[in-house]
Amino acid sequence: MIIRLRAVSHAYITEKGAHQALRDIELTARKGEFVTLVGTSGGGKSTILSLIAGLLKPTRGTIEIGKASGDRRAAIGYMLQHDYLLPWRTILKNVLYGLEIQKKICPEDIGRAHALLDEVGLSGYARRYPHELSGGQRQRVSLVRTLITDPDILLLDEPFSALDYTTRLKLEDLLFDLLHRYQKTVLLVTHDISEAIALSDRIYVLGGKPGRIVKEIHVPESMRPISPLSRRRMPAFQSIFQEIWEVMERHAATDTEHAAYGT
Ligand SMILES: Nc1ncnc2c1ncn2[C@@H]1O[C@H](COP(=O)(O)OP(=O)(O)O)[C@@H](O)[C@H]1O
Ligand SMILES: [Mg+2]
Repeated sequence: MIIRLRAVSHAYITEKGAHQALRDIELTARKGEFVTLVGTSGGGKSTILSLIAGLLKPTRGTIEIGKASGDRRAAIGYMLQHDYLLPWRTILKNVLYGLEIQKKICPEDIGRAHALLDEVGLSGYARRYPHELSGGQRQRVSLVRTLITDPDILLLDEPFSALDYTTRLKLEDLLFDLLHRYQKTVLLVTHDISEAIALSDRIYVLGGKPGRIVKEIHVPESMRPISPLSRRRMPAFQSIFQEIWEVMERHAATDTEHAAYGT
């Protein structure tokens, strides 16, 4: 396993006291696996990614990040919903920013940056500025910026949720293609059930308050090599959708009852 969470709970300490965000999370990802966490807003998805990235320490439980190769601990890349491109830097300089602050930049990186921009359909954009690009193009730059550091694990926090539907479907296919080709381990977070089924090998459904894993779904082997757009047309897609929908509804309902009785 390259990622393993055991009995992880997390509480945020606020002025009003402790706020329990997650309870007893058990989660794994194998090398090269595409794993998605699906759940409603406020369910604790981003908190899980921050814990894995080491930005937060869990209140309870353990988080193990495995080795990439040899003795090296797997490196993590993190991509967020908002692109956080620096407006005063060109696209190329935005792509190289991460390497620059890690002081790891070498001449070949410029060639790699151009090649990756090419791969995401942005050749010719290297000298442009972020404001000249559409939302979808900016998220592609963001993806290139994450990939250029060559992380073993990619944490993707609702990377497409601010985009319009068609742009999103196209980006799903691009992401799927690219990450499979580079054999990355991916942990994607989304509130979109279809997106989860279209992209993943395995899905965790997060529900309840505090958030916990309420279901784990293995996407059928036969579906896994198939691209997101084509998966959406498969009969199995609908049945998995229904399964996830029902679990999420059930947990949303129990939460409301609890809230009504103040428990
Ligand atoms: N920095 C923080 N301080 C206090 N509470 C937080 C903080 N970040 C998130 N929370 C709370 O923790 C819960 C889970 O949040 P989050 O992980 O952002 O959920 P999601 O990403 O699924 O929308 C929410 O109730 C949220 O309000
Ligand atoms: Mg979030």
